[in-house]
Amino acid sequence: MTLFAQNLLTWYDRNARTLPWRVPPGSGEHANPYHVWLSEVMLQQTTVAAVKAYFEKFTARWPSVETLAAASNDEVMAAWAGLGYYSRARNLHACARIVVENHGGHFPQTEVELRKLPGIGDYTAAAIAAIAFGEKAAVVDGNIERVVTRWAGDATPLPKAKAQCRAFVDNHMPAERPGDFAQAMMDLGATICTPRSPVCALCPVTQGCTARAAGNPLDYPVKPAKKAKPQRRGAVYVALKGAEFWCVRRPEKGMLGGTAGLPTTDWSARQDGARGPNAAPFAADWEQVGEITHTFTHFGLTLEVYAADAKPTGNGWWESDTGNLPTLFAKAARLTLDQAAAPRPSR
Ligand code: ADE
Repeated sequence: MTLFAQNLLTWYDRNARTLPWRVPPGSGEHANPYHVWLSEVMLQQTTVAAVKAYFEKFTARWPSVETLAAASNDEVMAAWAGLGYYSRARNLHACARIVVENHGGHFPQTEVELRKLPGIGDYTAAAIAAIAFGEKAAVVDGNIERVVTRWAGDATPLPKAKAQCRAFVDNHMPAERPGDFAQAMMDLGATICTPRSPVCALCPVTQGCTARAAGNPLDYPVKPAKKAKPQRRGAVYVALKGAEFWCVRRPEKGMLGGTAGLPTTDWSARQDGARGPNAAPFAADWEQVGEITHTFTHFGLTLEVYAADAKPTGNGWWESDTGNLPTLFAKAARLTLDQAAAPRPSR
């Protein structure tokens, strides 16, 4: 056994969290496969704290995979209510029926066979195989990725780092206790090697930990580069009367729905808006004074800013305070007012 695995398991033997689907570490017994499967499906997108009560409710009502398979889909969906990601409940029930009908009520015992069942992906198949059947299957979840990338100082961005994490787990997971190793890694990630405030002083595997030595655990794991946001363009028109500018109420639907705004063309996250002096909602001697940019959650926006002394038509009102506008429009108004206040360069 590697020193890493020894230190980790010694720690786990004393500090394992007591969870309703577990058997105590080192008991020499494997946990009930039905319990392991049910808990792992519930834990896929949900915290341990939230899952506990649902796990208790399900196992009290359906103590075996046969009883769960015999329930109606409506009953299972209703019992799942509140846990979220409801496709998990549909797959859970479908999986129970397949285990009963095609496997005599016994879960397949290998990662490869488990992977074929509905709702069981790579992670869940490995977790059930290791925890319920003692197969040396490389279990890698988000907690384990964090522990491993820190320990190895692996700055490969996710998801590419997963392959290295799997290799690490493969190397260190001891054939004698694969399930305990996997759950020890999860507990370490959940209680000590936490995302934002790791407690390195209490960690059983500081010896050899690259991030601990460098003092930079928060630099791992490296997240994937964010996708570039789409960049949209449009135009905004600042009609002036002295130091006042003309405002309009935006349509209820769409970006900044119902807020005060400046007249603007019809840009959105999906398309550019019209631009130029002739695209203005009313005629004036429009001159471009510059551009402003703004970043929304899903796209970046650049608006050409046009200004003119104007007699607006349609509904709207004169305003002098840019503080009443959303930032995007306040930027355009300020740009214009600042330029109007500055002496014009002679041409
Ligand atoms: N998260 C997912 N599976 C888990 C398990 N078996 N123990 C603790 N946390 C988990």
